Amino acid sequence: MVSSHVTNNVFTSSHSFLGVLDEVINKPQKGIPEMFIRSDKEPLIDLSMNDKTNPLPTIPIFDFQTLLCAGDNSTELHKLFSACKDWGFFQVVNHGVSSELLEKLKFEIQNFFKLPIEEKTKYKIKPGDVQGYGTVIRSEGQKLDWGDRFFMVTNPVEMRKPHLFPQLPSSLRDTLETYLSELKKLGMAILGILGKGIKMNMKEMEEIFDEGNQSMRMTYYPPCLQPELVDGINPHSDGSGITILNQINGVGGLEIKKDGVWIPVTFLPDAFVINIGDIMEIISNGVYSSILHRVTVNKEKERVSIGMFFNPKFGAEIGPVKSLITSENPPLFKTLSMEDYYKSFFSRNLDGKTNLERLRVN
Ligand code: OGA
Ligand code: NI
Repeated sequence: MVSSHVTNNVFTSSHSFLGVLDEVINKPQKGIPEMFIRSDKEPLIDLSMNDKTNPLPTIPIFDFQTLLCAGDNSTELHKLFSACKDWGFFQVVNHGVSSELLEKLKFEIQNFFKLPIEEKTKYKIKPGDVQGYGTVIRSEGQKLDWGDRFFMVTNPVEMRKPHLFPQLPSSLRDTLETYLSELKKLGMAILGILGKGIKMNMKEMEEIFDEGNQSMRMTYYPPCLQPELVDGINPHSDGSGITILNQINGVGGLEIKKDGVWIPVTFLPDAFVINIGDIMEIISNGVYSSILHRVTVNKEKERVSIGMFFNPKFGAEIGPVKSLITSENPPLFKTLSMEDYYKSFFSRNLDGKTNLERLRVN
């Protein structure tokens, strides 16, 4: 099976860390263990500067139904393409995913993280793998994120690991299955629209992403008494084509690095945040930007999120799209197979934009 072929040989990790929840939360007297403390954490923008006369910039918002009907040269699409260039992040409302489904998803995912540790251990990341519950430990002294996460490949269905998705509690599994198929429709539509902004015909984009590789990460961020000392998720860019993030329980914490400073991302209720991943930056030859982001956890509230990553299928070649390349506009990135891309991506931890930088043409 392709999945084991890809994940078994690529790195040498021998163990993983299950989660912060059971390790730390139940022993508050221990304080914050050293392994979570990020002494080099960059501060958030000074929020006292956020007043009525000088508000903080917020990520652009789009109505999905309007985008779907918008003509190729419409102002709305141009606004979207600019958002992908300048922000790499945007919000989508009126996306067609029902609030009943979103409520159910919230309930199921919250319940999953409340399961006893023995239950969750069944899904623990196995040596040599990257999928499952927990965090891969690759080096001694590696700093850990203040979040319990579960990452797995969900599409194509034959790539699902038998001990992960198929073994989830059935109500969670069914809800996720519905959510996956709803998000696939949304994701493919967004990819098609983004293709227009880089002179790609929809066929080209579809060929790369159709029946592509889809994966998801659900994360539970427990409250932390000193959030400024830890990262919920370390600054990184996503390795995906695009990511659709759902801030399940409405608690904020996502931050992006914009013009050199970290700013908070505010979500509208029930909106999805969509961001450009490294693969889309490569395909668009740098026209769209895959932006650094992180999560800062909350002092009082837990935060729950689920991100869905849309990637090209195995066998696809990824590289700057031919229609954009001219002698004045040479390729900025190498072209490589999706297999090689994965090997490179999964051989390191989420850390800045190091993977993308390695794929740059010198
Ligand atoms: C991710 C991510 C952000 C969040 O999973 O790649 O950036 O809000 N998640 O959980
Ligand atoms: Ni991310």
